Amino acid sequence: MKKIKISPSILSADFSRLGNEIKRLEEGGADLIHVDVMDGHFVPNLTIGPPVIKALKKNCSIKFDVHLMISPVHKYIDAYSEAGADIITIHPEATDDLSASISKIKNLKKKVGVSLNPESKVSLIKDYLDRVDLVLIMSVNPGFGGQKFMPKVLDKIKELKIIQENQKIDFDIEIDGGINFENAKEAIKAGANILVSGTTIFKSNNGDIKKNISLLKSL
Ligand code: DX5
Ligand code: ZN
Repeated sequence: MKKIKISPSILSADFSRLGNEIKRLEEGGADLIHVDVMDGHFVPNLTIGPPVIKALKKNCSIKFDVHLMISPVHKYIDAYSEAGADIITIHPEATDDLSASISKIKNLKKKVGVSLNPESKVSLIKDYLDRVDLVLIMSVNPGFGGQKFMPKVLDKIKELKIIQENQKIDFDIEIDGGINFENAKEAIKAGANILVSGTTIFKSNNGDIKKNISLLKSL
């Protein structure tokens, strides 16, 4: 059983003090920093891009788990790599050639992830699973923090675990969206080993980040 890692989503952070918020996460025991990049086209929201990531990365020693909810995504991969992304996760629907986009990220010596929206099936990525480092299972429709967890996506995690077993392949399974102290247990039981959380980490227990991260790690 892999060690559970916590990747707080800065979408729920105070955007007027992002640098301090990243510091709080680092001191609070985060394993990764989940950066939700949105373009207002692939998803109905617009957040941050490469210049902000570059600035934040300067003062942070934790790896950046960059979730690109942008399309077309292929032509922007270089920019996020140069900005300092350590893991670059893309949506299969956002590229004309998923194989080429995966190769591009790997050639840049970055870890590559593919993400499935709640309605997207594992079949969309099954031919690429031996080439990726991470599969990001969305448990909300992408675009906003604070949404309700969709338990039906746990079946996809179980399906991925069976594929890992049958094909003797390994990759991290990350779940993202509406994670709280209750449903995180189900997600881990299903086979997720990286939990993304924004609202629960930044807002629970009067915003005690350290406490919230350690509570998620203790599940
Ligand atoms: C949604 C983002 C998620 C979200 C998680 O599109 O990909 O990372 O911000 O935030 P919570 O934990 O508040 O659902
Ligand atoms: Zn995300």
